[in-house]
Amino acid sequence: MKLNILCIGDVVGKAGRDILDQQLRKIIDAHSIDCVIVNAENAAAGSGITKKIYQKIIATGANIVTLGDHVYRKRDIISTLETADNIVKPANLSISASGRDYAIYTTAKGAVVAVVSLLGRVFMKPSDCPFAKIDSLLLKLKNEADIIIIDIHAEATSEKIAIGHHLDGKVSLVFGTHTHVQTADERILPKGTGFITDLGMTGPHNSVIGRNIENVVKSMRTQMPFPFEVATGDNKISGIIATIDSTTKKCDTINRIQVSDD
Ligand SMILES: [Fe+2]
Ligand SMILES: [Fe+2]
Repeated sequence: MKLNILCIGDVVGKAGRDILDQQLRKIIDAHSIDCVIVNAENAAAGSGITKKIYQKIIATGANIVTLGDHVYRKRDIISTLETADNIVKPANLSISASGRDYAIYTTAKGAVVAVVSLLGRVFMKPSDCPFAKIDSLLLKLKNEADIIIIDIHAEATSEKIAIGHHLDGKVSLVFGTHTHVQTADERILPKGTGFITDLGMTGPHNSVIGRNIENVVKSMRTQMPFPFEVATGDNKISGIIATIDSTTKKCDTINRIQVSDD
């Protein structure tokens, strides 16, 4: 069975949520999408997510929500992380951190998709080894899902590419998030795993990775703090569409997308 998977990069603030609301159903219909995975770690005013925003993102057509280093920025999401099966915390945080290690979604065609989020460790806050964590999780997930997809939320391109190669042939798709800039390296790795270093950002591109240009520049020039409000203008959805064969578990195609406001 072939499955069309849409993966959408970090949704930033109301602008990001609004464009999802306007465009996501159209993309799902135009590309016969079977499963939508949305990274929403910046959905609430640029940092974190609330229960209400999670529910709205699911209502726009998302099936699975991943997060990242801002997972607990809004504490309101913790009860949802503990109860819902389609939203995940990064799996390699402390074993005492709230939330699931993987999200599950059963597509209309019957295939079960599992998604794991991992944090990188280069230029990031401390977390457990993402390689060791995914190796142990895969032993369990193989029996629970038809296809396995990984969101590697990391700063360094090298670390994301290393995770991609480590998981080549073991999962169907590895996509990077966190840096908010879409990379042009989407490809199928030698053993059949689809890969891209970063999906890019969903929100205002007339910005410094989603935030107001003036204050970010002022802050960097003066080394003094200024509020980093979510920017406006050039609102776009960024991501990829991958076709995965649930029998071979391999990725057949992977293509970048960017969709602007009407
Ligand atoms: Fe982000
Ligand atoms: Fe992040």
